[in-house]
Amino acid sequence: HEEFTKVKNIETIELGRHQMDTWYFSPFPPEFKDCKKLYFCEYSLAFFKRRSQMIRHMKKCPLRHPPGTEIYRNGSVCMFEVDGKKEKAFCQNLCYLAKLFLDHKTLYYDVDLFLFYILCELDERGAHIVGYFSKEKCSEEGYNLACILTLPAYQRKGYGKFLISMSYELSKVEGKVGTPERPLSDLGRVSYHGYWTRELLAILRDPDIGSISIKELSELTAIKPDDIINTLQTLGLIQYQKGQHVICAAPKLVEKHLKAAGGPGLVVDPAKIVWTPYN
Ligand code: COA
Ligand code: NA
Repeated sequence: HEEFTKVKNIETIELGRHQMDTWYFSPFPPEFKDCKKLYFCEYSLAFFKRRSQMIRHMKKCPLRHPPGTEIYRNGSVCMFEVDGKKEKAFCQNLCYLAKLFLDHKTLYYDVDLFLFYILCELDERGAHIVGYFSKEKCSEEGYNLACILTLPAYQRKGYGKFLISMSYELSKVEGKVGTPERPLSDLGRVSYHGYWTRELLAILRDPDIGSISIKELSELTAIKPDDIINTLQTLGLIQYQKGQHVICAAPKLVEKHLKAAGGPGLVVDPAKIVWTPYN
């Protein structure tokens, strides 16, 4: 039975100057079935059983950054948009790589329908992948993010916060509200709850704001009203009275929650985004 074969196969990967232990099964092609370690080209994400093969590939590989359009640069951080239809191999390789750290039952390998936003750190050698998020070109459900990953070597440094923030900044450029595809992983849920809390409470703590509706909060932040209601409910800052949600943001409670929600991580400067929505 299929399910029985889905035990973790690849145990470690080498990518750029990093060795990383994997977390989950990923459905690499059959010839990689008995392979415990994989070697990735950090630019094309092509993968190999032997380091010598990877080195040989990298000598010929012309890429020194992801194969797409640079949409953001700020100091040593940059982001590229890669179209799954135009760069199929890169995006499929990325999905195989990402699945090693994602527990989702299904990951979509039909990359044509997605755009991939690759976050990189720049140095004199090139743009080194740190993490990414994917986004459906056209989401009927209003998703602004499908999958999100910070590679383990870069986790807990604020890059995930950057990726989430960027997904909402792109929604703002589109003039739409967005929400991440469900289910979220435990780490995803914590990260989103922190982001929503920081964004919403930064507005609610402003003494000049006076009273504000869920709809207005949504327009300011591009956060979907349901996510706003759930977040404020969890924080005990909303009441349901006479069929309506009423925000009651006592300043002391707001400050307490803001403190607990942590810092902003790596901040997106919206002025540095150079991007036009897909259509
Ligand atoms: N333990 C506890 N909390 C954690 C955590 C961990 N190992 N990793 C992240 N968090 C929480 C913290 O609240 C953290 O904020 P803090 O550092 O101020 O406390 C917050 O998430 C975000 O931290 P950040 O450094 O910006 O996140 P990251 O770069 O590590 O990326 C994910 C977060 C979710 C993208 C990353 O954990 C990941 O790629 N996980 C595997 C794939 C996955 O689960 N994706 C989500 C699918 S929905
Ligand atoms: Na995060």
